[in-house]
Amino acid sequence: TPPLSGRDLLSLSDLSVDELLELLTFAAELKAGKHHPQFPQKVLGLLFRKASTRTRVSFSVAMYQLGGQVLDLHSGVTQVSRGEPTSDTARVLDRYLDVVAIRTFDQAEIQEFADYASIPVINALTDLEHPCQILADLLTIQEEFGALQGLTLTYLGDGNNVAHSLLLGCAMVGMNVHIAGPEGYAPDPAIVKQANQLMQGNGHVLITTDPEAAVKDAQVLYTDVWASMGQESEAGQRLPVFQPYQVNDALLEKASPEAIVLHCLPAHRGEEITHEVMEGAASRVWDQAENRMHAQKALLASVLE
Ligand code: CP
Ligand code: NVA
Repeated sequence: TPPLSGRDLLSLSDLSVDELLELLTFAAELKAGKHHPQFPQKVLGLLFRKASTRTRVSFSVAMYQLGGQVLDLHSGVTQVSRGEPTSDTARVLDRYLDVVAIRTFDQAEIQEFADYASIPVINALTDLEHPCQILADLLTIQEEFGALQGLTLTYLGDGNNVAHSLLLGCAMVGMNVHIAGPEGYAPDPAIVKQANQLMQGNGHVLITTDPEAAVKDAQVLYTDVWASMGQESEAGQRLPVFQPYQVNDALLEKASPEAIVLHCLPAHRGEEITHEVMEGAASRVWDQAENRMHAQKALLASVLE
């Protein structure tokens, strides 16, 4: 088990490169049924302010398979929705729970929670990052290509949470990352800078508005919704702006012949990805979704150890 006892995962960069690689190996071994770690009596809390299918269910099933229990604490059923301060909630839940996964808007909120709680705090998606998603993505890419180093991943669309964590995760494992999206929707420059530093010369980052240039030689095409949770009112206005970045058969043809397609899901067919590509031979989206459970089981076992 990777030695992450008691640790938080607020950003993918909270892990060292070795810890990330060990976590991926451990996840693959758990998936293969090589270990059966058990944490009876341990309780995971899911503190979510946003909707979730995969993250909620994969965390829950992972925890049950580890012999633990789960409390689904959506903000609406707690005093969180009535404005109890994060610092108070954190100190109280710290005394009941063994580990907590939080899905919210502001990265500062999970940082504050972690500052006030001694139990491991896991980022289950913020507006800034989605580290658990990228653990599953890297596991999926590793399964497909055997090794990660030297591969090129191209992300098409909005440069927000998933793109940010991909930048960090790919940089850590020595993959090249291309991000293509419309002007005004590029990733946070601070994250791009951090990714460049993490690469230590073992790859490159390309930020561009040109989708065709971005997919050239890529082994992995990746996309996400054009309007994220909290941006629903912008959806109509974003549609025409993001249209050139749709992952369709024509764009896929311009990538490397062995290219696979990933999507964190939920998908909007006909917008960021076509039905044909989602259901086509290059799609690995269902394996990717399954891998959320294996990757998070590895993470839970490592922080609870
Ligand atoms: N990919 C992902 O996090 O999905 P959910 O929003 O359904 O959890
Ligand atoms: N960028 C998307 C990811 C959903 C898993 C969102 O934040 O809504």
